[in-house]
Amino acid sequence: MKKVVAFDIYGTLIDTQAVLKCLAELVGDKAPAISRSWRQKQLEYSFRRGLMRDYCDFSVCTRQAFIFACGEHAVAASEEMIELAMQAYSELDAFADVPAGLGALHEMGLHLYAFSNGSRASVERLLERAGIRHHFEALVSVEEVRSFKPDPEVYVHLQRRCGVAAAQLCLVSSNPFDVLGAVHCGLRSVWLRRDPASQFDPWDLQPDLTLDDFGEVARRLPEIFRQPMT
Ligand code: LAC
Repeated sequence: MKKVVAFDIYGTLIDTQAVLKCLAELVGDKAPAISRSWRQKQLEYSFRRGLMRDYCDFSVCTRQAFIFACGEHAVAASEEMIELAMQAYSELDAFADVPAGLGALHEMGLHLYAFSNGSRASVERLLERAGIRHHFEALVSVEEVRSFKPDPEVYVHLQRRCGVAAAQLCLVSSNPFDVLGAVHCGLRSVWLRRDPASQFDPWDLQPDLTLDDFGEVARRLPEIFRQPMT
């Protein structure tokens, strides 16, 4: 029976913290605060646009969030700064543990899908550049349903694209809101706690597994598919 593992991209497979280096050159010691605010605002914009049914390419959320984050920290974002920041965001690397972990999962016969808020073209470029595109059977972008995570429609769409029952589909994400979106739609899930200080939202839904590194994901995933659905 086909078993699919879908991976969130930004922050799960691809390390967004690397933009800090570029930001440090652009805004000096304000880089950590601007970087944090940038990511938070980027997600907030995607949530709001999803609710407002005002879809745009995720890169628009990213760009507008950067301008906001700079303004919040009293930095006027010039066109050149915006272009450099956006370029850094499109040239991110995979976390070091990702290539070997994906390879191991692939060898186990699991079908791997990429699942992102990012547009198809940008995710395709990012994964190619990071040298991990070949592990994926397909890329699923929210652009195909013109909404954003965690709109249930995007998880239903993922399942449709994978062509399996919910019990045969597991989402791996470092983003608690994404894990909750998947669990809410009846999918299996792993929360990859990339940051030991991060906490899961205290809702009444939980991931099937919480793991701290990608190697562990490769070791423990097969057991998830053996568990009865709760
Ligand atoms: C993604 C964001 C949510 O890749 O991390 O979909």
